[in-house]
Amino acid sequence: MGEDLGFSKGLAGVVADATSVSQVQGEDGRLIYRGISIEELAEKSTYEECVYFSLYGKMPTKNQLTKFNTELRHNRVLPKAVEAVIAAAPRSAHPMAVLQAAVAAMGFDEQPVNLKNEDANIHNAIKIISQLATAVAHISRDRRGLSHIPPNTEMSHAENFLYMLHGKVPNKEEARIFDVALILHLDHDFNASTFSARVVASTEAKLSLSISAAIGALSGPLHGGANEKVLEMADGIGAPEHAKEWVLNAIATKAKVMGFGHRVYRTMDPRAKVLRGMLEKLVATKSDKSTYETLRIVHDTMIEELGKTSKDYIWPNVDFWSGSLYRLMDIDSIDFTPIFAVSRVAGWSSHIIEMWRDNRIYRPSAKYVGPTDAKYQDIKNRK
Ligand code: CMC
Repeated sequence: MGEDLGFSKGLAGVVADATSVSQVQGEDGRLIYRGISIEELAEKSTYEECVYFSLYGKMPTKNQLTKFNTELRHNRVLPKAVEAVIAAAPRSAHPMAVLQAAVAAMGFDEQPVNLKNEDANIHNAIKIISQLATAVAHISRDRRGLSHIPPNTEMSHAENFLYMLHGKVPNKEEARIFDVALILHLDHDFNASTFSARVVASTEAKLSLSISAAIGALSGPLHGGANEKVLEMADGIGAPEHAKEWVLNAIATKAKVMGFGHRVYRTMDPRAKVLRGMLEKLVATKSDKSTYETLRIVHDTMIEELGKTSKDYIWPNVDFWSGSLYRLMDIDSIDFTPIFAVSRVAGWSSHIIEMWRDNRIYRPSAKYVGPTDAKYQDIKNRK
C-alpha cells in the first residue's frame, strides 16, 4: 500500500525485470544476444553455440561445445509418455496445441524445482530443447499420416530437425539457412511468450510446465502465430498482380497486415533483414517465385503507403519473411509456429534460469474498475 500504482495497457513501456539474455533496441532496429548483434551471430555462429551462450552466459570453448553437442544429440529420443500424448491427438489438431500438451508431458517425470541447483536446471533445459525439436517433427509427420523418423545423433540440430521432418538428409545450404533462422528466433527480451514463461516459472513451477505455458502464448496470431498467417494472407491474395490493390484496401479499411508492426521496433526488425537476404538467395534457385513476389509487393506497398502517414513506425517484423523461407524448404504453413518454438525454447529456458538466481514471484496489481459496494441479490429476485 502507499505505492504509486502505474497503469499501462498491455504493459507497454513497463520494466518488469532485469535480464542480460538479450536486448531489443527498438529505435535503432538492433537486437543483441548478451551484447553480440544477431547479424554477427548469424554470420559466424551456429544455433548450438548460441544456445550454449544463452544458457551459460559465455561462449563455449571447443571442448565445451563438443560436450554440449553430445548432450543435445543424445537427448533427442522422446519418452514413451510424450509419444503417447502426441499419438492421442487428432490429426485435425493444430500442432501448437499438440506441442503444448507434449511439452507438459515432459514434466511427468521431472523432479520439483531446486532453484539452487542451476547445473541440474541447465541439463533439464538441454533435454527439453533437444526433445522439443523431435516432438515438432513427430507431430508434423503424424498429421501428414507419415511414420516417425528417429533422430540421428550424427547431425546438427538444424540438419536433424529437417531430416526428421522430411525423412531425407537436407543439403548443406538449406541446413545452414535453417540453422541461421533458428539463431534469429532464439530470443527477444520480454516478448509475450518469454514473459509467460517467466511468470509461470516465478511460482517455482517446473521448467517443462513453464515452457508449455510459453508455447500457448507463442501460438497466438499477434505473436508467433503471425508467421502462419502471413502465408495465409499471401495465399488469399492469390497472385502478385493483386497484391498492391489488396494492401491499399487493407490500409483503407484499417485491417491488420500480418508480419507488420511491433511493440518495440520503430524501424525494420533486424531479423527480417537477415531472413530476406537468405530468402532472396534461395528463391533465385527455385522455379516457383509467386509467394515471394506477392509478399515483396505487400512489403514495398506497405512501407511506401504507411510512410506517407502517421503510422510510418509500422515496419515488417520477423514473421513476415520466415514463412516464405520455410515454404521453399517444403514445410507446411501450419508447422511454421512450432518451428519458432524449436528455436525460442532456448530463450525461454535461459530467461528462467537467469530469473531463478534471484527469484521473486510475478504478481502485478490491477486497476479495479468494477463496483465497490454492490449487494448480493437472491436468485428469485433477479431479472
Ligand atoms: N497492420 C496494420 N496496422 C497495424 C499493424 C499491422 N500489422 N500493427 C499495428 N497497427 C496499427 C494498429 O491498428 C494501431 O492503430 P490505431 O492507433 O489506429 O488503433 C497502431 O498501429 C498501433 O498498434 P498497436 O496494436 O497498439 O501495437 P501493439 O504494440 O499493441 O501491437 C503487434 C504490436 C505486433 C501485436 C501488432 O503490430 C500486430 O498485431 N501486428 C500483426 C501481427 C504480427 O505480425 N505479429 C508478430 C509480432 S513480431 C514477432 C512475434 O512476436 O512473433
